[in-house]
Amino acid sequence: MKSYDSMSDPPLEKKADKPKKVSPFSDIDLGRWREYEDIITDSLWLIPERDRSGAHLADYHGNFVPQIPYQAMRRFTKQGDTVLDAFLGSGTSLIECRRLGRHGIGIELKPELAQQATERIAGQENPYNIITQVLTGDSSDSARTPPAISKALKKTGKTQAQLVILHPPYHSIIKFSDLAEDLSGCRDVETFLRKFGQVVDVVTPFLEDGRFLVLVIGDMYAEKEWMPLGFHCMQEVMNRGYSLKSIVVKDMQNNRAKRNLENIWRYRALVGGFYIFKHEYVMFFRKGKRNG
Ligand SMILES: C[S@@+](CC[C@H](N)C(=O)[O-])C[C@H]1O[C@@H](n2cnc3c(N)ncnc32)[C@H](O)[C@@H]1O
Repeated sequence: MKSYDSMSDPPLEKKADKPKKVSPFSDIDLGRWREYEDIITDSLWLIPERDRSGAHLADYHGNFVPQIPYQAMRRFTKQGDTVLDAFLGSGTSLIECRRLGRHGIGIELKPELAQQATERIAGQENPYNIITQVLTGDSSDSARTPPAISKALKKTGKTQAQLVILHPPYHSIIKFSDLAEDLSGCRDVETFLRKFGQVVDVVTPFLEDGRFLVLVIGDMYAEKEWMPLGFHCMQEVMNRGYSLKSIVVKDMQNNRAKRNLENIWRYRALVGGFYIFKHEYVMFFRKGKRNG
């Protein structure tokens, strides 16, 4: 029988000592990459059903499926990192923060919605004891919002966040409120893009260099033409020192606005010479790293 000394392979214990190869911006153990079956790496996301577990509800018109922040956080944050969502809405991303053990800061313009989101988030178990904070305000306000973000970050023991999520309203598709600062109420696309750019300006100093910003947005029709709103917003982000890492196309199943109206929309599409929107984009940008 051979002793270990005479074998070419090192003893098993030695192999196990090998340092773990971990991604620089996530908890994914790259030595066991085959085991992460839940993590999507393709650019086409067909999500058949909304995750309705935990505190997630689908009652807020315009919320995204929890799978979007889930995927973004699993790939681009580590446990204990802080996530900043500048358009919090009903609180989906902060509920995911609690489930995944990431601190979360969300900004929402509508006070009553911010309150509802706070209650909903509190209804989600907090096994990692992380801090979630909902700020009521205008994300594009460069005077008032940065100090509020700084203060919230300090409570999580940080000066910067490790992931930014932006799910802005699509200009004029769903009007979220009558508030003058509401992006959905902008009088034209130029104003919408300028305001959206201001939001990117506000959040950028609070994102750690080399970390990710995720933008969830779709296109729209305006005056019988396809308006590539998603790509215009993409350009606003890229103009501010971000590199584009991926454009994911995500399906829109059961679009509430069009539910039960499929035949009418199909007829209109055939008459008008257009295609019915069935997708939106989830765009991933990295701050400050061109070739990383
Ligand atoms: C598309 S929804 C976000 C939905 C959210 N991802 C969710 O899952 O509930 C956009 C949200 O941005 C809010 N909003 C619009 N303008 C804003 C602004 N200037 N600052 C902060 N929030 C704003 C709207 O009230 C709306 O709730």
